[in-house]
Amino acid sequence: MHCLLSCRHFSLRRLPAPFLSAAMMSGLILWGPGAEARASDALPGAALVEESSLWITIGADAFARLQAEHGLIFRNQPLQAVARQGEVVATRIDSRDLERISRVIHQSHHRCPGFLAHDSLEEAQEALLQSARPQLGGGALPFEIDQPALVASLDGLLQGDEILETIETLSTDFNNRYYQHPSGQNAAQWIRDLWAGYAFGRPEVTSELFSHSGWAQPSVILTIPGSTKPDEVVVLGGHLDSISSGSSNPDFLAPGADDNASGIATLSEVIRIALAQGFTPQRTVKFIGYAAEEVGLRGSQEIADTFQAGSDDVVAVLQLDMTGFNGSTNDLTLISDFTDSALNTFLGSLIDTHLTDLTWNTSFCGYGCSDHAAWHNRGFRAVFPFEATFGQHNGSIHSTSDTVGTLSNSGEHAVKFARVASAFMVETSVDVVPPIFVDGFESGDTSAWSSTAP
Ligand code: BES
Ligand code: ZN
Repeated sequence: MHCLLSCRHFSLRRLPAPFLSAAMMSGLILWGPGAEARASDALPGAALVEESSLWITIGADAFARLQAEHGLIFRNQPLQAVARQGEVVATRIDSRDLERISRVIHQSHHRCPGFLAHDSLEEAQEALLQSARPQLGGGALPFEIDQPALVASLDGLLQGDEILETIETLSTDFNNRYYQHPSGQNAAQWIRDLWAGYAFGRPEVTSELFSHSGWAQPSVILTIPGSTKPDEVVVLGGHLDSISSGSSNPDFLAPGADDNASGIATLSEVIRIALAQGFTPQRTVKFIGYAAEEVGLRGSQEIADTFQAGSDDVVAVLQLDMTGFNGSTNDLTLISDFTDSALNTFLGSLIDTHLTDLTWNTSFCGYGCSDHAAWHNRGFRAVFPFEATFGQHNGSIHSTSDTVGTLSNSGEHAVKFARVASAFMVETSVDVVPPIFVDGFESGDTSAWSSTAP
């Protein structure tokens, strides 16, 4: 399976060498305007492979749009669905139509690229299966919605202004967080230090860099150890890298204010308030800023691999990628593909129970569009609350215009996601503990606040 990074932002012929070699290493096929051959064909000595057929998997809504415009786009007509799984469709195309498809999807659905390309029908079918695959663990979720007081005590403290400030710093002081750009490495260190500062006075909480084997930009992991179930882990994450056309050219900026300084800033606000309030979970909670998402979920895949190989049990994963742009009538959109249906139901109930002023709907990417898919594809339960219904989200991502200005210089939308993430953190990591009876008297309930709480 290959993610297409074409859209209007990429031209194979204009790609700088580091980007091209990184793309090669990650197995990506890149297509750009006019490019009709594989990326590998651009390598010196590589044989030119002529191939006119390709399969893509794409959201059903975007597919319907392509069908409607087939007369304008396609060399081979008509365009037909060869397989379908839920809201995702597989179809066969002529590879020379890729650029036009990419342009139509970008213009009509603001997705870039909005579909995955596959070398064979079998690969496309496998991708369809992955999009709705039940999770390995199966069975009931190991937690319930039963902590209204704890949720409420954090909820009122989360500040949109704090989130906006962090977005501003990341998008201006580190305005090219491309995974191979020095500023992308500095950004990771800055996030590590920001989170370490929030953990001041909490010696059991760690904020560390996670080094990757194939590139320099590290991921960042803050860990709050669980008091009674430390081997069960809840992950809240988002990517810390950014990308833009010509991203490794220092003159071409990738501020990534919404994609995804907003997600990192939203997570940071949850950390700030939770630690300041002395929150101590029963399960271990990890906040992760993933490196190298924009070049194929590379950071999250390596981290999810590590957890798969280890002995700890990751029971829930929440992804925040783009929280700043208020493009729909509903407050939040729950992404339904490459996520776990039971955990999505839990997340919807959690909002309905604790955050009754917030509205939500569901939508889908049609491909593994962010780090939640890395976890999902390895059998972990993941959810992805997103800023808007697809097609209504921020159209400035992956460009120099993804700045706080596009977010109306406001953290008002993002703070809704901090509230949801905070409630999710509490309800997945703290359970009601049966009261302990000593000599017939109840000895008091278990608190989720640390002894060092102010
Ligand atoms: N934030 C985007 C994903 C996204 C974009 C979700 C638009 C919803 C609407 C993410 O950073 C991204 O760009 N993902 C890539 C795919 C990835 C596998 C490289 C994409 O969508 O092209
Ligand atoms: Zn992106």
